Amino acid sequence: MRETLEFIKSKIKDFKPEVAIVLGSGLGTFCEGLEGIRLPYSQIAGFAPSTVKGHKGELLFCEVENRKCVIMQGRFHYYEGHNLAKTTLPIKVFKKLGVKKLILTNAAGSLKKELTPGSIMLINDHINFMGSNPLIGQNDETLGTRFPDMNEVYSKRLRDIVKTCAKNMGIEIKEGIYCALTGPSYETPAEVKMLSIIGADATGMSTVPEAIVAKYCSIEILGVSLITNYAAGLSDVAPNHKEVVEMGKIAGINLVNLLKSAIKLF
Ligand code: HPA
Repeated sequence: MRETLEFIKSKIKDFKPEVAIVLGSGLGTFCEGLEGIRLPYSQIAGFAPSTVKGHKGELLFCEVENRKCVIMQGRFHYYEGHNLAKTTLPIKVFKKLGVKKLILTNAAGSLKKELTPGSIMLINDHINFMGSNPLIGQNDETLGTRFPDMNEVYSKRLRDIVKTCAKNMGIEIKEGIYCALTGPSYETPAEVKMLSIIGADATGMSTVPEAIVAKYCSIEILGVSLITNYAAGLSDVAPNHKEVVEMGKIAGINLVNLLKSAIKLF
């Protein structure tokens, strides 16, 4: 982490990001028109190149609505073969750069008929079904404690701000529980039924490791899922990545506008 930090600091000089944003599949449009310092992951020591279609693989340091931000265009996934420590390295680096707030976005499959594709869902809690935890291993006391509390991982204050903005903009917004599985295979219909029974509303392959680490580091978190499809068994169409990225682009426009207006109030 020290090497990663030193490299980034040498490039951004005295720019101090306050808000970090992780963009999920299809949400790259958030960065259109933004000017700043761009660092491709391939140049950053400790960062792996992004291998997923629809993920650019670049850090962008810039101002969004007068807030100093660092934006991850594409994230690291467990299913790409990185361990969870590597997957969450950027979050620890952001903490060391002084980041206080984190916006985690993702594309997710709906587990409930009433949560229709195209919906924006604020994450109010999560279930970690990845079978591992990013904090396993020696603890770094400079970041957080050994046994961190996981109450209100997703800040109610930030959710309330986004809800108010959405109301003012006439954008409908849902709220629910996100459950993370490792992927990369999509779920079976039996798994989808189980996830719904245990209380999840949406499922995906990311976000939870990053949220666990950010909460551990005392970063305030907003989590948002863009519902791109019905999970397996809820519709006649099988989930596929092309559909996920395409729906992300369409429904993502509202989410991008919403986040830009909310960020002013964070
Ligand atoms: N399942 C898991 N991850 C996903 C899905 C899904 O249906 N859609 C987008 N990411």
